[in-house]
Amino acid sequence: MVFAGILAGGTGTRMGNYSVPKQFLPLNGKPIIVHVIEKFLVHSEVERVIVGMNGNWMHFMSDVQEKYFKNTENLNIVEGGSDRNGTINVIIQEAQKYGASTEDIVVTHDSVRPFITLKMISDNIAAVQKYGVCDTVVPATDTIVYSENDKFITDIPIRNHTYQGQTPQSFKIGLFEQVYGKMTAEELEIVTDACKMFMLKGFDVHLVEGCVSNIKITYPFDYKMAQIMMEKLTNDSFAIQTDKTVCNRNNLQ
Ligand code: CTP
Repeated sequence: MVFAGILAGGTGTRMGNYSVPKQFLPLNGKPIIVHVIEKFLVHSEVERVIVGMNGNWMHFMSDVQEKYFKNTENLNIVEGGSDRNGTINVIIQEAQKYGASTEDIVVTHDSVRPFITLKMISDNIAAVQKYGVCDTVVPATDTIVYSENDKFITDIPIRNHTYQGQTPQSFKIGLFEQVYGKMTAEELEIVTDACKMFMLKGFDVHLVEGCVSNIKITYPFDYKMAQIMMEKLTNDSFAIQTDKTVCNRNNLQ
């Protein structure tokens, strides 16, 4: 079975002063998180979508569910964890209530990346079937400059070997349990990225090609960009039913 885990446990502090967390901000007439959930619901391999929602916004999410997904049986909302990996853990526990086994797959995705394509979901599922765990990335175009003290350069990795991490991040449920169970409290405090946990515990994480359009809405600028992208590059039914969102820089018309 394939489960989608939509990560919505945060409140978007970097977005600044909005009355609702960023996942609820409107994009083309409906909340950002609705675009994300719809993509997974229409994917033929995804059997159940589980949203890990911030505890203070469960009531709000219930209203969204009532409005947009009233008759959708394979959508569940659970209260997320205090950090991102905690939210994934809660989602997996919910999946187990629906019969998830260790060999089943969870495709986790940020609730604030509405431009995910069906192809990315398919590629993630195929990669997990083959490698057990995968991360979606795009090659870095800017040179990545690494600094451990925020003042001087510690390293400049060779650009051809650098990527920017996106989501989905996907894995077999049994592997996540193994890895999460081995994390110390101290490690969990520092490591917010699920794939970093797998790396720490000795797993090879396979790379899946993402899309430059698969932006994460983090700052007001990203929200503005998302609005422009929605308006210029796609329209709603087009976005949901097809994969024709812009997927690489050569593709831009
Ligand atoms: N997330 C989550 N559970 C948490 C914290 C974050 O599921 N306890 C999710 C967010 O809801 C978001 C995704 O992880 O969809 C990516 O995180 P980020 O962009 O950092 O979101 P926020 O934590 O909401 O934003 P900020 O860091 O600005 O507060």
